[in-house]
Amino acid sequence: MSAFLKAVLFQVIVSFICLAEGFTTSYTKLSSRNSHCIQFSTANDEDVENVDIAIVGAGIGGLCAGAILNTLYNKKVGIYESHYLPGGCAHAFPRIVKGKDGEKLEFNFDSGPTIVLGCSKKPYNPLRQVLNAIGLSDEVEWIPYEAWGMVEYPKEENELRWRVELGQKRFQEGPLTLFGGENAKAEFEALRKETMPLVSGAVEIPAMAMRSGDSALIPLLRYLPALIGLIQQGEEATQGTFAPYMDGPKFVVKNQWLRDWLDALAFSLSGLPASRTSAAAMAYVLYDMHREGAALDYPKGGLGKVIDALVKGVEQGGLGSKVNLSNHVECIDTTSDGRQATGLILQSGKRVNAKEGVICNAPVWSLRKLFKNENAIQVLNSNLKEKERNTRQTWITKGGANIIRTKRPSVEDEDDESLLAKCETSEQTGSFLHLHVALDAEGIDLDGLEAHYTVMDRGLKGSDLEHDGPCGELNMIAVSNPCVLDRSLAPEGYIVVHAYGAGNEPYHVWEGLDRRSEEYNDLKESRAEVLWKAIESIIPDARSRTVSYEIGSPLTHERFLRRPSGTYGSATEDYLKDGRTPIKKLVLCGDGVFPGIGVPAVALSGSSAANAMVSPWSQWQCLDFLKAKEII
Ligand SMILES: Cc1cc2nc3c(=O)[nH]c(=O)nc-3n(C[C@H](O)[C@H](O)[C@H](O)COP(=O)(O)OP(=O)(O)OC[C@H]3O[C@@H](n4cnc5c(N)ncnc54)[C@H](O)[C@@H]3O)c2cc1C
Ligand SMILES: *[C@@H]1O[C@H](CO)[C@@H](O)[C@H](O)[C@H]1NC(C)=O
Repeated sequence: MSAFLKAVLFQVIVSFICLAEGFTTSYTKLSSRNSHCIQFSTANDEDVENVDIAIVGAGIGGLCAGAILNTLYNKKVGIYESHYLPGGCAHAFPRIVKGKDGEKLEFNFDSGPTIVLGCSKKPYNPLRQVLNAIGLSDEVEWIPYEAWGMVEYPKEENELRWRVELGQKRFQEGPLTLFGGENAKAEFEALRKETMPLVSGAVEIPAMAMRSGDSALIPLLRYLPALIGLIQQGEEATQGTFAPYMDGPKFVVKNQWLRDWLDALAFSLSGLPASRTSAAAMAYVLYDMHREGAALDYPKGGLGKVIDALVKGVEQGGLGSKVNLSNHVECIDTTSDGRQATGLILQSGKRVNAKEGVICNAPVWSLRKLFKNENAIQVLNSNLKEKERNTRQTWITKGGANIIRTKRPSVEDEDDESLLAKCETSEQTGSFLHLHVALDAEGIDLDGLEAHYTVMDRGLKGSDLEHDGPCGELNMIAVSNPCVLDRSLAPEGYIVVHAYGAGNEPYHVWEGLDRRSEEYNDLKESRAEVLWKAIESIIPDARSRTVSYEIGSPLTHERFLRRPSGTYGSATEDYLKDGRTPIKKLVLCGDGVFPGIGVPAVALSGSSAANAMVSPWSQWQCLDFLKAKEII
């Protein structure tokens, strides 16, 4: 028996012991609590709110967790979110602009994600699975589309335009052969075959079967063949990077065009090149994009509709569960020994008692400052000495240029395996530069345009001079043009367009600037030029059609979304393996936790966190229920 298999069996046994323990603790009275955010808390009863589960943050991770707990486990949930809008990175926002004749024009913008697969057709991604499980899949109408546009060297002599069509063989026989040649096609097919075994777990194991913590394997026993498949693949394959498939020993991608293409794909998933992106995620995309009937999906009404549905999932039924906006969480409260989470203290001074536990959806780098109780900090530090730790950045400056690290930087204190060390040293991928524009669309033939473009400012291969590849600074620009699919996002005769550098805007370029300064505004305008250029390569007279525009910087991300350094998320190698913490009744979810960045990924971590709040037995019954209703 392999050592890994032994370890797994051992964990299963431990899990069953924990299961038995779970039964006894549920009958033990909760010990009396002591508040440790004394500086904020007040004794007044009116300032105390009681819930079963309190959640920090209404990103997709926290909302999925809350919706599951409220709807499927009958828990009274309180979600507390700093922003006045729910959704975190994925929130939608309205803008009202005065038109030519003084009329009110209302536009609906997506602030972040627009590309999702696996919502309109099976196999469903974890987000769609959560919507199904909470009975709200009808709330979101998905508009499938089959291709996106590529523009290389926009507005230059050698400008190149092509389409990426999803589905079987279309990409392989189209651009792949055209640009990469026959050998690229052969390599691509061989690579897909080699990575196919990594896909089975994601396809066969539903998100609702996941749970964080020691008993993670119990519900997975229901999916034994897939579980055995995963075990045979080994931890390296399920949690490791794609490097062994790019550069050996498992596979070597030799064709340069294909390597650049894989890097570009990977970069949009992880903010890192392919060799530093999750192997399982890469395998999944390679499988999902090129299967028969594959499609991208856009939610009618914008991403905000998905967020609305999840909020409804949190609040539906008569339990009094609620997403409380504009409610910043000052700290997570614990018992005096710091070993168990008991609730939250809000910035308003109000205390939230969380009878059954706390889920934290705030970015992992924020965990430390959410604790005021020294004992709890000790527990999170595994009783090692508390110290200042440096957060590593993916974007560094070398020879005056901003470049991305192609290798994981070393950690000063690799032996410090405490949760806080893992969170605080977790490498931060790059940030974003946004350009949201509302355009007068008179005379534009929308049907002749794509709903999404990837514009490579310096070409797919990046600049020869700088050797920066597809992941170079502000090289890959996403242009979301959703009105092609959904005219309801803007008044008749107008459209919204969102261009952004996704994960390729270094934070240090902006660090320390005063947001009200002229310098800051000038930098915004000058750096956004490349985004304008990307839009103009699609709509040449876009600037003169503009009725309103807004530029968002890494500082905007940091401030409004509470993303430290405006980061896209943790580097692949640094995801926490699951959301468990050494503090009882505290579980983490979101993009710092396996499986990492992305809408489907955080829906999965939200689901794992929610299930970890109930006993494996309750989860098992829930899986039976969903199965009987043919939802899973
Ligand atoms: C511009 C952009 C484009 C993207 N494009 C895509 C895409 O096309 N496809 C895709 O799949 N993914 C995409 N992503 C990634 C995806 O959007 C994110 O990975 C995901 O939304 C992160 O969700 P989360 O729940 O982990 O965290 P967040 O969205 O960061 O949510 C965390 C929430 O916690 C709140 N919070 C933090 N601290 C506190 C506190 N102390 N008190 C109260 N609240 C607090 C924050 O305000 C925030 O709302 C994109 C991301 C961005 C930014
Ligand atoms: C959260 O919302 C509920 C329901 O509207 C309300 O009763 C409660 O006071 C709110 N909590 C806070 C802290 O605002």
